[in-house]
Amino acid sequence: MGGAGIRCDRTAGWGALLSHYDESGIGFDLRRAFAEQPGRFEALSQEAPHLFADLSKNLIDSRTEALLQAVARESGLEARRDAMFAGAHINTTEDRAVLHTLLRRPASAPPAGPQQAAFDEVHSTLDAMLAFAERVRGDATITDVVNIGIGGSDLGPQMVVLALAEFAAPGKRFHFVSNVDGHELAGILRGLAPEHTLFLVASKTFTTAETMANAQSARRWFEQSGGSDVARHFAALTSNVDAAKAFGIETTFGFRDWVGGRYSLWSAIGLPIALALGADGFRRLLAGAHAMDEHFRTAPLARNLPVRLGLLDVWYRNFHRFTTRSIAPYHSALKRLPAYLQQLEMESNGKQVDASGQLLTFGTAPVLWGEPGTNGQHAYFQMLHQGTDVTPLEFIAVREPSHDLPGHHPKLLANALAQAQALMVGQADAGGHRNFPGNRPSTFFVFERLTPEALGAFIAMYEHRVFTSGALWDINSFDQWGAELGKVLARDLEPRLASGDASRLDGSTAGLLQRLRSI
Ligand code: F6P
Repeated sequence: MGGAGIRCDRTAGWGALLSHYDESGIGFDLRRAFAEQPGRFEALSQEAPHLFADLSKNLIDSRTEALLQAVARESGLEARRDAMFAGAHINTTEDRAVLHTLLRRPASAPPAGPQQAAFDEVHSTLDAMLAFAERVRGDATITDVVNIGIGGSDLGPQMVVLALAEFAAPGKRFHFVSNVDGHELAGILRGLAPEHTLFLVASKTFTTAETMANAQSARRWFEQSGGSDVARHFAALTSNVDAAKAFGIETTFGFRDWVGGRYSLWSAIGLPIALALGADGFRRLLAGAHAMDEHFRTAPLARNLPVRLGLLDVWYRNFHRFTTRSIAPYHSALKRLPAYLQQLEMESNGKQVDASGQLLTFGTAPVLWGEPGTNGQHAYFQMLHQGTDVTPLEFIAVREPSHDLPGHHPKLLANALAQAQALMVGQADAGGHRNFPGNRPSTFFVFERLTPEALGAFIAMYEHRVFTSGALWDINSFDQWGAELGKVLARDLEPRLASGDASRLDGSTAGLLQRLRSI
């Protein structure tokens, strides 16, 4: 990674953290910590742009944080962060800059130096895309928008469109097709009329097999169902404009290779969001993210929310050795947030070698998972309270609801509070099967309201948090070579499913191939 730093386990501060863990980390007790420090909540919670975060129910104290910050400094976190914002090629394995933050920089705050041309291009694409979005929003004949894309070209737009549905203009339905499984596309097409549908083919590379197969089938369906104007009913969101043209799409919104797929909802890939929220809503989303960028760029480490969370992640993964983290959004519109965060964190930091290619001897990305509360409470929270493993939990609550059904919201908030409280305080006196060990950590995020600004800020906060742990681990958080091998093997296996050729395959794959051929 650029900004030349030292891998965290090679810093002097790492040794101090190890001693601190042995002395007070292993036996850390949250209940005792609160009893001993009346100001713990204030010390370990903070405001950040559009977001309040309570970290006080985590297995840390101010000394833990200070030691983690010392490691961050020694490992060069700040220089790496500045290198990212400056456009250095910190994605070394692909020799690319990482500049998704430029996408949310307002036109009124142009960057100094060499990014000026890129910035101008960002804003002219943004203006064109938002003008297109407004035109389509005003076109009552388009009732259905189908986004065809996968991974970063699906999860971000889908999550945001769902989360901010209350801000969407009525009259348009949004559909997201990602899987190459034809059941998905066929199910959506069944309810559509070609003359009322706009297809968005979203693919950074415009080569992803699933997306290409779905786009071709969508076009075939369009033509076979009487659709005549492909140019009007298909648009492409891609950095491979030539391939989109070759596909026959005339309306294309582009972006550069310095926007990673899982960081791309701020780019042309965000067109479904702009269609749902309008130009103003999309700009509000960008503004929230930009406010968090500025916080990450300028706040001292001790009051820098993404940094504090990223360091907590390192503490949990490398010292407590927790292998998973669970996300509990107490807002049903955030249903797709766990899936979105899975790609963001696990594709970014699920790496086994450092920047120089050396095998790491410590854990990196945890498994992220979760469901909206209170649903999760009636499914897997049993394990969170009484299981043998400790899983740090992240509660996300919204103070002001956007519905007026009486009684619901206080019940929802009480549940979120109660779960965090129960995980921490436990219940020791009941004994046996009714015993709750407690001391189970959680972080609690609060939005005033689930607005475009708040969601934009939250997503940017998570991006920078992932950057922080990745920087300490000295991994490249911006490539994804691990997604490639399976793609190559699928290309080899597809014709074998037709021919039955099982030569040179391992026994299991050969056996399954034969089994699946008969279906
Ligand atoms: O295979 C993984 C991946 O490259 C993701 O990183 C990306 O978000 C997704 O596939 C889709 O890629 P594209 O936008 O190029 O179709």
